[in-house]
Amino acid sequence: MASQIEVEALKQSFQEALESTRDIAALDVLEQEYFSRASGKLTLLMKGLGALTPDERKVHGQMLNALKNELFEELGNKRVMLEGKTMSDIAIAEAIDVTQPVEFPPGFGHMHPVTRARWDMEEVARSMGFLVEDGPELETDYYNFTAVNIPPTHPARDSMDTFYVKDHPHWVMRTHVSNMQVRLLKKYGAPIRAAYPGRCFRNEATDARHEHTFYQFETIVVDRQITFSDMVGVIKALLSGLFKKDVKVRFRPKFYPFVEPGVNGEMTCMLCDGRGCKVCKGTGWLEIFGAGLVHPHVLREGGLNPREWTGFAFGMGLSRLVMLKYGIEDTRLLQSGDMRFLEQF
Ligand code: DAH
Repeated sequence: MASQIEVEALKQSFQEALESTRDIAALDVLEQEYFSRASGKLTLLMKGLGALTPDERKVHGQMLNALKNELFEELGNKRVMLEGKTMSDIAIAEAIDVTQPVEFPPGFGHMHPVTRARWDMEEVARSMGFLVEDGPELETDYYNFTAVNIPPTHPARDSMDTFYVKDHPHWVMRTHVSNMQVRLLKKYGAPIRAAYPGRCFRNEATDARHEHTFYQFETIVVDRQITFSDMVGVIKALLSGLFKKDVKVRFRPKFYPFVEPGVNGEMTCMLCDGRGCKVCKGTGWLEIFGAGLVHPHVLREGGLNPREWTGFAFGMGLSRLVMLKYGIEDTRLLQSGDMRFLEQF
């Protein structure tokens, strides 16, 4: 068994030899002398481990391994020095060019159309100084309903419409991304501009226009003296960013508990440019969002004084926007994972 003294002696003689090595050829000889598989000095010490008891082997094995790593590193450093290369030369030579374009092999996947549309809209939102936030899909009934002024008796809370979680009476799969309104107000206070796309769930009987899982894109802005016309500008910017052309919007009053006044928003049908077609049922308009000025109840739940702050919020059906953008007739295809469908994008 190699004693501590022997190990130290071996290390010292190696280091002295290394010190006096002046060229690569001599370095190769030294490497063989210590590390060659058959008869290297260090290799022989390692081979001696086989004759030890397991406990001894553990202790000596660790010691010899540490020694081997140390000497090997010194050898490598000397080689770098003799070759006249610095570490940064090596780093440059071995670097991978992450900017180099990659040729994707056939069959390589791509982003889902919903993801692409979401990204397009997020980019527009960011360009206007909005935060883009993610939120929980499994939510408490407080944030999903109570916080946004939907009282316990509201029909939206019915289990016909909402997925509840077994054994957790206050947990729901969020039915809209409006669950984020009070979360964001509490987190950031005011003034705030935020966009929050996400997945929502409703206990729907599914058909070509209804799906139990779908996407929405919502924004909230709270500041001093925010008006309806601020909101119209943001809505138009987002829709134009997604459809890559100017769109017109119009509003009709509609009740939503979390806004006052509330409206239902339509945009010109981009398929017929407002002339009237099958998709817009001849009207030239498509219903795609709910909107309004943030209700004082919501501001208060978010810790803000409604006398001081005003704001707007609007929520768009992202799945519906994607269907319109790409001419998809059945919403269930978006969730189907069907390659024949997905490969078309
Ligand atoms: N949360 C509503 C829904 O899912 C959509 C909505 C309506 C969002 C009006 C809003 C709003 O922000 O102001 O049907």
